[in-house]
Amino acid sequence: MSQDNKQQIAQDLVTASIAAQDGIDISSLTFQDDRLICILEVSPALGAQMEPVRQDVEKVLITEFSDFTVNVILTAKRGEKSSERIASQPARIENLAPYVKHMIAVASGKGGVGKSTVAVNLAVALAQQGLKVGLMDADIYGPSVPKMMGLSGRPQMQDDKLVPHEAFGVKVMSIGFMVEDDTPMIWRGPMIQSALRQFMVDVDWGELDVMIVDMPPGTGDAQLTMAQKVPLAGAVIVSTPQDVALLDARKGVAMFRKTGVPVLGLIENMSMFTCPECGHESHIFGHGGAEREAKKSGTTFLGAIPLELDIRIQGDEGMPITQAQPHSKYASYYQDCASTIMGVLSDSSVKKASA
Ligand SMILES: Nc1ncnc2c1ncn2[C@@H]1O[C@H](COP(=O)(O)OP(=O)(O)OP(=O)(O)O)[C@@H](O)[C@H]1O
Ligand SMILES: [Mg+2]
Repeated sequence: MSQDNKQQIAQDLVTASIAAQDGIDISSLTFQDDRLICILEVSPALGAQMEPVRQDVEKVLITEFSDFTVNVILTAKRGEKSSERIASQPARIENLAPYVKHMIAVASGKGGVGKSTVAVNLAVALAQQGLKVGLMDADIYGPSVPKMMGLSGRPQMQDDKLVPHEAFGVKVMSIGFMVEDDTPMIWRGPMIQSALRQFMVDVDWGELDVMIVDMPPGTGDAQLTMAQKVPLAGAVIVSTPQDVALLDARKGVAMFRKTGVPVLGLIENMSMFTCPECGHESHIFGHGGAEREAKKSGTTFLGAIPLELDIRIQGDEGMPITQAQPHSKYASYYQDCASTIMGVLSDSSVKKASA
């Protein structure tokens, strides 16, 4: 590993570890022979409170740089009152995608709740409304966007940029286009960051009104890093109505709020099942939980999407229901969510995340 590389990796790891904390900054990060010294600057009033953060950073660096003796040290920022320090803490770093008006993450606390299905259908629904739409598959552990959009193959290069694939009026980029289906992917924090950076910087997206970002499930370090690295205007949280999924949804809401990303609202997926034979409605995973949760956490309820066989089949066949049956009631659930989201975004209280 070159000196520059080491430095960048360490810098990225520390940045990700302190992302959710106000009042703490990297003061310096130095490799000296077999030692790695990281000095974190904290507001004077927060010194003791930051000890667990210091320990976390140390653990992360020890794991990555096991050949080095790692010291992480807290120092107080001189000549500054703690309240001023917190107020001046930048919420976001760099805007790597200034060509996008609104970048929206579709996330969930838990896997398998229908996030990717929502992401692809929202993207198609927004394109149907005449918007210029991109879809970035940030689920680099299990990318499912290529299959759901019926796309495959390596994107072409033109003028040093990757040309995104396009389907149903949506420009699409996924790590699934770059690696073979059966390649086991072992990602480390810095690799995730550079893949995402590449998606934003090295892809010729053109000007976009909206970019939908399909996030990997969960609220761990990787998600936090992404929430911080991608200049998000807001996040949409998908949940099933069960209590356990809602608890995870709550974690998702908390994670985005910590990183200063507005939560645009909650979607309840697999909300009910209507028997195709008799028309009877069953609430297999319960019903109405996400709406109650949205009220409780002060976010918008963006809508309920029923469990429907056609939605699943269309996803598997590579043509989202919004494209395959645009005038169906199934498509209307996503179309209505898309309109509500655009309404929330145009609300003056939700500002585009700035650089
Ligand atoms: N409303 C729905 N009705 C029927 N099937 C659905 C619905 N939403 C999602 N599915 C199906 O459920 C499965 C999981 O959905 P999806 O892949 O979108 O979830 P995910 O949250 O992105 O999962 P992961 O956490 O693995 O990324 C898929 O087979 C999808 O077709
Ligand atoms: Mg998914």
